[in-house]
Amino acid sequence: MKSTIESLVNPQVLSLPPKQAGPVKSPSSIRLDKGELPFAPSPLVIEALGRELTQINRYPEIMGGSLRTKLAQYTQASTDQIILGNGSDDLIELILKVFVGPGDEVILPSPTFFIYQFATTVVGGLPVIVPRNSQFDIEVEDILARHSPKTKIIFLANPNNPTANLTSREKIIELLEKVDSLVVVDECYYEIAAATVADLVDIYPNLLILRSFSKSFGLAGIRLGYAIANKEIIDYLYRLAQLFPVSRLALVAGEAALEDLGYIQDNIDKIIEQRTLLGKSLEDLGFQVYPSSTNFLFARFGDITSKELVENLARREIYIADFGLKQGLDAHYLRIAVGSARENQLLLEGIKELMLSLKNP
Ligand SMILES: Cc1ncc(COP(=O)(O)O)c(C=O)c1O
Repeated sequence: MKSTIESLVNPQVLSLPPKQAGPVKSPSSIRLDKGELPFAPSPLVIEALGRELTQINRYPEIMGGSLRTKLAQYTQASTDQIILGNGSDDLIELILKVFVGPGDEVILPSPTFFIYQFATTVVGGLPVIVPRNSQFDIEVEDILARHSPKTKIIFLANPNNPTANLTSREKIIELLEKVDSLVVVDECYYEIAAATVADLVDIYPNLLILRSFSKSFGLAGIRLGYAIANKEIIDYLYRLAQLFPVSRLALVAGEAALEDLGYIQDNIDKIIEQRTLLGKSLEDLGFQVYPSSTNFLFARFGDITSKELVENLARREIYIADFGLKQGLDAHYLRIAVGSARENQLLLEGIKELMLSLKNP
């Protein structure tokens, strides 16, 4: 007989695996597994957070207050075309709750960001996996071949996570011309990739752009994301959103970050420089490194499995992400965030030592 609690739980939730906390990482460890920026936030953000602390007895503005307006200026959209969320993860779940019901289909060009599939399943939707091509780009005709009257959403991470590549504006327009389901273009890495289709929101009413403060702005810990879409879509999303989805601290951090775009751009320049150096060094060590428009590298290492490599490096307190055997990939794929020059150096030394120890056990 089922335990009482188990019999009460929504079957959709029963099918989900438990969360694993993962290893406790020491402050000195090299953390290149979560796609974070290695730099401290802008001093303006830290000052703004300090000032706001005296106000946290008050609830935040329910629809994002002045940050929503500042984002409208930053994105050249209007305020009623913007919604804020507790990270873009929160907005992905909200979009699914608003648009997808049991039996509806959601197209996922894969491999891609795993939360799309997770959030689809949670609302009873059916993920339709469309494999990307050998360069991990989408093929519009492959998506159209799987598109059906039940298709509600197509998720396109651009650039894509974990594969780091960018789909061209032309392909996105071709897709938008041919479907009337909601096309979510997830531009989580927008400032690093320096490519967007947000200007098309006024032309295509079924286009929604997702953005994040976690990557380019280096604010992953504050949890702040936003979406840009036509007013009608934003209105439906706000109807279901939590009353206070974004904390007062996130709101002021976001505003302050937008006032320090020079600092953000300097960090991006450093990351792009380090990305080139790290990619080259990994290639010298025998890795196949894919072109990246993000702050991480997607790579394949044929000598040992990614699982072995990741576990061995973790023993040295160097963390990178294992994509071996995930979403149609073979056992050798990795995602490595670009760290500071020192972190990247320590990663490379760790890999070299590991390779030596494998040759002379
Ligand atoms: C493509 C993509 N979308 C969304 C997210 C989630 O970002 P956030 O921190 O804003 O929830 C990530 C995080 O890695 C991502 O790679």
